[in-house]
Amino acid sequence: MEIKSAKFLLSNTDVSKCPTAILPEYAFIGRSNVGKSSLINMLCNIKGLAKTSSTPGKTELINHFEINEKWYLVDLPGYGFARKSKTTLEGFSKLIKNYFLDREMLTCTFVLIDSRLPPQKIDIDFIRWLGSNCVPFVLAFTKTDKQNELKTSVNIESFKNELFKEWEELPRIFITSAEKKIGREEILNYIREINLGLKN
Ligand code: GTP
Ligand code: MG
Repeated sequence: MEIKSAKFLLSNTDVSKCPTAILPEYAFIGRSNVGKSSLINMLCNIKGLAKTSSTPGKTELINHFEINEKWYLVDLPGYGFARKSKTTLEGFSKLIKNYFLDREMLTCTFVLIDSRLPPQKIDIDFIRWLGSNCVPFVLAFTKTDKQNELKTSVNIESFKNELFKEWEELPRIFITSAEKKIGREEILNYIREINLGLKN
């Protein structure tokens, strides 16, 4: 899919003030610093569209970007990083939880996982929480340029094994690098197919 236009619409702390839910929406979530904003920039091919930083906690609001005037990409704050906002029992901020529980047009969530790490409890917990709230999601492993392919596949296998302890089927998995533009076609085609399916 070609990205003809990508424009920042608005930032919000309050899910009720997000744009009216008319267009299909694709959200990016994961631990702070995992590379959510960078992946969005890579998909849109615009450096600096979403703000990135080497320090965790950069994205603090719900950010809507309108793509091709037809669908939204949403950049969210990360979880797993001590921040000022109140966190709930599970360790995810109310902002994040309310977003996932309220957005009617949330079509698919990309849960980003750092490909360099062994399975992290907070990611598994968050995926469980999405599942128990019937939020549709896929996985995207990030920063694969930082290590060799073998290391990436070992970590992905061990993450899958962890998920198989509680899930019968696993969602679609994308292997990405914002730096090397890996996974761009695959993710954009996936979104395109879902968008086409929604029209029928
Ligand atoms: P928060 O908004 O703080 O939750 O972080 P985020 O998940 O949006 O991460 P962000 O995109 O700001 O990236 C964090 C850091 O990782 C930045 O220094 C990025 O340059 C770096 N980074 C992100 N993706 C990649 C990647 O694919 N490869 C490499 N080498 N670095 C990356
Ligand atoms: Mg960010």
